[in-house]
Amino acid sequence: MQRNGVLRICTVLLLALCTFASEVFDWTKNEMGSFQYGTFPSGFSWGAGSSAYQTEGAWDKDGKGKSIWDIFSHKRGKIDRNDTGDYSCNGYYKIKDDISLMKDMKLNHYLFSISWPRILPSGIRTDYINEKGIEHYDNMINMLLENRITPIVTLYHWDLPQVLEEKYGGWQNASMISFFNDFANLCFERFGSRVKHWITFNNPWSVAVEGYETGEHAPGLKMRGNGAYNAAHNIIKAHAKVWHTYDTQWRNKQKGMVGISLSADWGEPVDVTNQRDIEAAERYVQFHLGWFATPLFTGDYPQIMKDYIGKKSAQQGLSSSRLPAFNPHEKSYIRGTCDFLGISHFTTRYITQKNFLPSRGNSYFTDRDLAELVDPNWPDPGSEWLYSVPWGFNRLLSFVKTQYGDPIIYVTGNGVSEKMMCTDLCDEWRIQYFRDYINEMLKAVKDGVNVKGYTAWSLLDKFEWDEGFSERFGLYYVDFGSKNKPRYPKASVQFYKRIISSNGFPNQREIESWKRKSLETCTSSNQLLAAARRKSKEHADMPKVWPVHDEV
Ligand SMILES: *[C@@H]1O[C@H](CO)[C@@H](O)[C@H](O)[C@H]1NC(C)=O
Ligand SMILES: *[C@@H]1O[C@H](CO)[C@@H](O)[C@H](O)[C@H]1NC(C)=O
Repeated sequence: MQRNGVLRICTVLLLALCTFASEVFDWTKNEMGSFQYGTFPSGFSWGAGSSAYQTEGAWDKDGKGKSIWDIFSHKRGKIDRNDTGDYSCNGYYKIKDDISLMKDMKLNHYLFSISWPRILPSGIRTDYINEKGIEHYDNMINMLLENRITPIVTLYHWDLPQVLEEKYGGWQNASMISFFNDFANLCFERFGSRVKHWITFNNPWSVAVEGYETGEHAPGLKMRGNGAYNAAHNIIKAHAKVWHTYDTQWRNKQKGMVGISLSADWGEPVDVTNQRDIEAAERYVQFHLGWFATPLFTGDYPQIMKDYIGKKSAQQGLSSSRLPAFNPHEKSYIRGTCDFLGISHFTTRYITQKNFLPSRGNSYFTDRDLAELVDPNWPDPGSEWLYSVPWGFNRLLSFVKTQYGDPIIYVTGNGVSEKMMCTDLCDEWRIQYFRDYINEMLKAVKDGVNVKGYTAWSLLDKFEWDEGFSERFGLYYVDFGSKNKPRYPKASVQFYKRIISSNGFPNQREIESWKRKSLETCTSSNQLLAAARRKSKEHADMPKVWPVHDEV
């Protein structure tokens, strides 16, 4: 408590200094203050998100090509319970229903992704265009706009056309840059008169690390120490190329923006009085968020990554760093290619310094020389990784502002999953999570962080990658065991709806009544769901009624 007083004085001094010097993030200043009432600036955009492979289903319908996720999820032993996204929420056939759910919540925007192989089955534009795929997204965009919901469109949410993986090695190969650019250009051409917010990549960290380093995600390759860095290198160049394409060919006509969506957990030093912990926490953030953000804002990787990976590569006896380098031309081409920064944030870790010797083998993880810790007192709503630490969100947003020159920020994903196969629609913990995280975002906005919109993750329960259907992120519950995949509102729908209609948090009394009312309505939804289950004799668990294709 005494520390807080001292910190407050420091803050005042810092603010005074900031008017003279360029801003520097202060790692030692962490005030975990109380709840703040107030509203967001007018025009703040409230939304919810999804992605193609996680929700669409219709994996082999209407001329769609296969993606690396279709192939990966059909291999046994890769996904929890060998689930696949073949059907998922049947979102492909339920655009109308889902848009009416959004309309009911009065969402300002909906964030979704376009499936590359649905439009270009082989991944390559000059091969052929699947007009049925174009038609699907055309309908969806038109219907959103008719309902005054702004589409925010992601071009790559992990579903690389399988042909490109097989023929070229996917993101390991620099030829992806022009293939992806051709796909993006086609999307600008066909949808750009109506779509003004484009996201090139969603969470490229996962693509690089989990796709090519740990192999937990498609394409499932384990190229330790190299795979992630090479994939990221091509992804960053691909992003820059697409931004330039938009800038030179479409911006004048279409007047939209092109950004990227980066995932960023916050890393807090275990001991803020220990310089080594502070440096380790900074490395954690720089190796994750900074790896992608720093090149887009400054033209090159964070110095700390170059230093550490260079040093480790030399210790291994390599003649050059495992982290590829941008040449001067590439640096200036990449710098400044972000009209807005999308931030996906879910949780926080405590970080401490930890040395890894080269004899342990080299990987992205050991290159960082740090250990991640969690506080046993943090609420863990059921997933192994997602601890609720609301103040980490404020810290992250303030870091982004100071590091990257106060960019326009859209929160492109924030939310929480719940216990395996939980069928309780009264998701009090999700209400608590949204309430506290959105409140920390409010504090950041009041401190001058330029956040323009917030995307709750996610609209529906859906296929959670290697976790299959065992983790549920939705505001709406989806009964995956039922052929028609009906949606049921959880209590958090009612709560989020009220945050949206008030554009923030008016006062304590109201917010308490929101919570009470939200929890009242879910009881009747629970009964509806239970009745539907009894009727169809379905179990809470998803039955294995659909074939698993061993041959692929
Ligand atoms: C998934 O597939 C693996 C490998 O064939 C098998 O060992 C496992 O039992 C399967 N799991 C389920 C839930 O079917
Ligand atoms: C990229 O793909 C081309 C064509 O298949 C191949 O010749 C080249 O070796 C690949 N490069 C890498 C780095 O995989």
